[in-house]
Amino acid sequence: MSNALIALEGSASKNKRLEEKVAIITGGASGIGASAVKIFHENGASVVIADIQDELGQAMADKLGEKACYIHCDVSKEEDIRDLIDTTIAKHGKLDIMYNNAGVLDKPFGGILETTKSDLERVTNVNLVGALLGAKHASRVMIPQRKGCILFTASAATAIAGLSTSHPYTASKYAILGITRSLAAEVGEFGIRVNCVSPYAVVTGMSPTGEAGVAQVEEFLSEMGNLKGHILRAEDVAKAALYLASDEAQYVSGLNLVVDGGFSIVNPTLKSHL
Ligand SMILES: NC(=O)c1ccc[n+]([C@@H]2O[C@H](COP(=O)([O-])OP(=O)(O)OC[C@H]3O[C@@H](n4cnc5c(N)ncnc54)[C@H](O)[C@@H]3O)[C@@H](O)[C@H]2O)c1
Repeated sequence: MSNALIALEGSASKNKRLEEKVAIITGGASGIGASAVKIFHENGASVVIADIQDELGQAMADKLGEKACYIHCDVSKEEDIRDLIDTTIAKHGKLDIMYNNAGVLDKPFGGILETTKSDLERVTNVNLVGALLGAKHASRVMIPQRKGCILFTASAATAIAGLSTSHPYTASKYAILGITRSLAAEVGEFGIRVNCVSPYAVVTGMSPTGEAGVAQVEEFLSEMGNLKGHILRAEDVAKAALYLASDEAQYVSGLNLVVDGGFSIVNPTLKSHL
């Protein structure tokens, strides 16, 4: 092989930011999780797709082929999470990245008077209990490794109120921010980093597009957003997760990485009166 070719090969593998890492992505069959699966895999990681949508998840693993597999896992069930982690360790011998991304929305615009206890329980069971159990069982194997990266998908609702997300959903996402910080404080001594990504609205499987259609909803969201010239898509969120998962974020822990084009720091009423 010529020197130029060797150099090219070297730089190609350098561009793979997760080479030799093993990553689990919950909610990996759709939306942000599916984008993260694709991008992590492209960057050299062995990915374990964990979801309850078995057909979608398995099809994605089959499509990616080598270094990808699907495991059924309902994150609200501790035995499923335990099996997910143990099967990953049995297959790969280690776990580098645990991305707790699975989530559900009860209703998009529910006010306090429409909030039911069953909504609260359903959202909490997946978004909060699922994320906490994922972090617990990942920590169980990462602490003896003395390294690892735990990620969550929270929401821009942790940075600004009035996004019209329901109260149970908002509460579950604030809880994730709390876990991110409290866990980062606990497991830092073992070399484990803990961070969350908080997106503004992205059209995915959970988006209530109704009759409007994806393009129209994206246009509406973009108009409402602060940063113009780009529509926030699932892959933008996945790229933020890629950064946090990679060694480029080696000293980043306890961070809420808000991916909202500045939406949460701008008061639009000021702009409109100037
Ligand atoms: N789309 C947005 O605008 C937005 C904004 C902020 C945060 N988020 C968060 O991003 C994450 C991903 O959501 P998305 O927008 O990609 O939606 P999505 O519906 O496309 O993906 C969610 C995935 O989670 C899976 N899931 C649901 N319940 C599960 C369970 N009990 N066990 C395992 N998997 C389960 C679903 O099957 C699905 O594949 C969620 O945590 C969501 O709250 C989304």
